[in-house]
Amino acid sequence: MKEVDFIKSFFDEVRETVVDLYKRRSDLGSSTKSDPTDYLTQADLYVQRCFHERLQKEFPSDFLIGEELGFSNYSDNVDGRAWIIDPIDGTANFLRAYFPIFCVGVAFCINAEISASGVLVPITGEIFLAEKGAGAYMNGSRLSVSNTDSLEKSCIQVDFGRRESRKERLSYIIPPVLNSGLVRCYGSAIMSFVFVAVGSSDAYVHSALKPWDLAPGILLVEEAGGKTSQIDGSPIKVFGKNKGVIATNGIIHDELLRSINEYLKHV
Ligand code: IPD
Ligand code: CA
Ligand code: CA
Repeated sequence: MKEVDFIKSFFDEVRETVVDLYKRRSDLGSSTKSDPTDYLTQADLYVQRCFHERLQKEFPSDFLIGEELGFSNYSDNVDGRAWIIDPIDGTANFLRAYFPIFCVGVAFCINAEISASGVLVPITGEIFLAEKGAGAYMNGSRLSVSNTDSLEKSCIQVDFGRRESRKERLSYIIPPVLNSGLVRCYGSAIMSFVFVAVGSSDAYVHSALKPWDLAPGILLVEEAGGKTSQIDGSPIKVFGKNKGVIATNGIIHDELLRSINEYLKHV
């Protein structure tokens, strides 16, 4: 089976159960991990378990990296065939926001290069899929980024991440907050990449994402005609440490980088 078809069939399998778990979230409860708002729900565990089981059947020798269940260890350079899963991205939205902006994200890499990826939005049933060099699609319709051509006309998404690294994050976020026309923060990194890929927003800025937060979304943005990079303009490393993560429609990329780097010179 092609990797992208494997991703699609996995999404078809889990969608209904995730929606059901979302409806029952108050009864099912949750626990926390690294801090009091780093939530873990039944949905995170169900989705990742299900993906692991399917992977063992379809591609038994492939490597798996996932946020939960002890699969979160990886080295700076993961060679060969590797899968990355964020079972629920936007878990806080899932659990407590009555704001159902959360998703399931999967990426497939060969020698640390993303070659296919997908995002499932359980509540709407939208499935986003991308293959390197073959475009990005939502339920079969081709995606295209926006054509907004300046920061002052743009809608930019920022993100605040976890409390322990927020101080560092703020210096990356202040320039887009001050210079863009509209500012949004949705609490799901993967959905934020999706919003850039579909053109409803023109850029997304985050300082320090993990492989499972970024890999499912950056290929969608690039295959929809957009651009991604670190804040210094160098390519994003899927597994290494990045100096910020930026995804844009491509047109405003340099202007956004310039505004952030100019600000960083004075902090
Ligand atoms: C988080 C979300 C959030 C981002 C955090 C991530 P989770 O993922 O994507 O938008 O700011 O850095 O950890 O915990 O909901 O999977
Ligand atoms: Ca995440
Ligand atoms: Ca997650």
